[in-house]
Amino acid sequence: MTLDRLGRELHDLRISITDRCNFRCAFCMPDGEDYQFFHREEILSFEEIKHFVKALIPLGVRKVRLTGGEPLLRRNVERLVSMLGELPLQDLSLTTNGFLLKEKAKSLKSAGLRRVTVSLHSLKDEVLSKLVGREVSVSHILEGIEEALRVGLTPVKVNVCVIRGVNDGEIVDMAHLFKRMGVVVRFIEFMDVGNLNRWSLEKVFSVKEMLRVLSEHFRLEPVAKSYRGEVAERYRHVDCGVEVGFIASVTQPFCGDCNRLRLTADGRLLTCLFAQEGHDVKSLIRSGAGEEEIRDFVRHLWQVREDRYSERRLELLKEGTLPKKMEMFKIGG
Ligand code: GTP
Ligand code: 5AD
Ligand code: SF4
Ligand code: SF4
Repeated sequence: MTLDRLGRELHDLRISITDRCNFRCAFCMPDGEDYQFFHREEILSFEEIKHFVKALIPLGVRKVRLTGGEPLLRRNVERLVSMLGELPLQDLSLTTNGFLLKEKAKSLKSAGLRRVTVSLHSLKDEVLSKLVGREVSVSHILEGIEEALRVGLTPVKVNVCVIRGVNDGEIVDMAHLFKRMGVVVRFIEFMDVGNLNRWSLEKVFSVKEMLRVLSEHFRLEPVAKSYRGEVAERYRHVDCGVEVGFIASVTQPFCGDCNRLRLTADGRLLTCLFAQEGHDVKSLIRSGAGEEEIRDFVRHLWQVREDRYSERRLELLKEGTLPKKMEMFKIGG
């Protein structure tokens, strides 16, 4: 077990496997910016990723989530899934925008992926298309979700980033739909990830407000956290048991339990979602470092970390000292 200065243990590793995306979400990659993507030789190979993950298991890593950009754009992602499936992990999941899920769900399941989380921020074609920066039909994403359910990539979770004035009026419809489908929907407060997402506090629709609206339509009861460091507050529908989650990362930060390490596609390590540039571990891996050496590097990073950005956000905002951060599509959430 590896503890940081605040006593938080390392448990959960999130690996971004590409910074490319087939969407251009307004709150992640807004129009009109000039994006520099990694070149192929800059990104870690599957062998390098597996070597890194294997090295971290004795430190306490038990959960791995693959992210992007859009991870299903990485060629042969199934091969990576099956390579990681050989390691003693308790959980192997992937976060996707759902566009390629219908065609990929079966092969991902066969490769050994346990479950998927799909981001879907509106049930209206027009709103969704505007949000993700291209024509997309909601039914296409829903078909991907249905396919994931059918092949057993369960529990399927859906992430909804709730932005005031954009989609806060849809949470009741979403809760109805996903209750019917047996999918765990999680409503997330809009966060100031990166520098381009035109975030402001006024656009944050709080979990408290969400619960007030939803409790007028549903009987929900709280469920205990399933593991220490879980970011979602869990509830379930009293009549059918389907769960609904809330992630109050702005109004009720959870840095106190933060057990997550993030690896970017180009081999940088971030001990916080709001980190600025991270620490290069690729050079170490490419220098031929063995597992012990990689472990020492990560153990040290983890032991000295003092991240608690979400707890400090409002204070920094007031002071006007919000730092520059890495963009969401380079980290993957
Ligand atoms: P499970 O493994 O299913 O419990 O997933 P999760 O709850 O960790 O979910 P997921 O990775 O889908 O994260 C959901 C959202 O919560 C992310 O998209 C972020 O918006 C937010 N989030 C996740 N991890 C962190 C974190 O460490 N800090 C902050 N501030 N927000 C986070
Ligand atoms: N605030 C909250 N959630 C966000 N996501 C992307 N940007 C933000 C933001 N600014 C969500 C994605 C996906 C997950 C990786 O994070 O939609 O579900
Ligand atoms: Fe949207 Fe995720 Fe792609 Fe960013 S990486 S544009 S949030 S789908
Ligand atoms: Fe962890 Fe940083 Fe999120 Fe706090 S803001 S929970 S330290 S990733």
